Amino acid sequence: MKKVLRWSVCALFVAGIFSVAYAQFAKPEQAIEYRQGVMLVMAHHFGRIGAVVQDKVPFDKASVAKDAELVATLATLPWEAFMVPGAEKGKTHLKAEALKDKEGFKAAADATMAETAKLAQVAAAGELDAIKTQFGAVGKSCKDCHEKYRSR
Ligand code: HEC
Repeated sequence: MKKVLRWSVCALFVAGIFSVAYAQFAKPEQAIEYRQGVMLVMAHHFGRIGAVVQDKVPFDKASVAKDAELVATLATLPWEAFMVPGAEKGKTHLKAEALKDKEGFKAAADATMAETAKLAQVAAAGELDAIKTQFGAVGKSCKDCHEKYRSR
């Protein structure tokens, strides 16, 4: 009985730490760093596919599939961190309008998630022409959001 109690207290403690670190972002700066970090890594793997699409790097089916899988996974991560109150100020390029137009921002995020998921599917199938077409669709979805909600 004591043992069970000890384990459940331990589990609660661990759950507490994770919710602070990942869900809530203790400070707005942490949300900014997190979303910029995700965007940067996502852009890096997307860029690797871009080099193949532009014939700068030979087409390797397995590595394109892996990069596309990573991009699709990373594209599910940053959105919550954009909606943190106070995280529209400071070292960020998020336009303050985004917080007033949450629906529009969410729609733009959904578009990128859908297009990157499709890119992962197409890349797994391994047909270069289809990958090129879908790469363009993903790129457009990134650009649509940046034009509306990112300042630079
Ligand atoms: C729903 C909106 C949205 C979508 C979709 C989106 N971005 Fe962004 N992105 C932003 C915003 C806003 C910023 C500025 C973040 C900040 O400074 O806090 C940003 C920042 C970036 C940055 C700069 C990160 C840094 O170091 O500061 C890169 C690179 C980037 N995005 C790449 C991409 C790529 C590649 C895609 C598509 C696969 C994409 N983004 C899709 C909104 C979006």
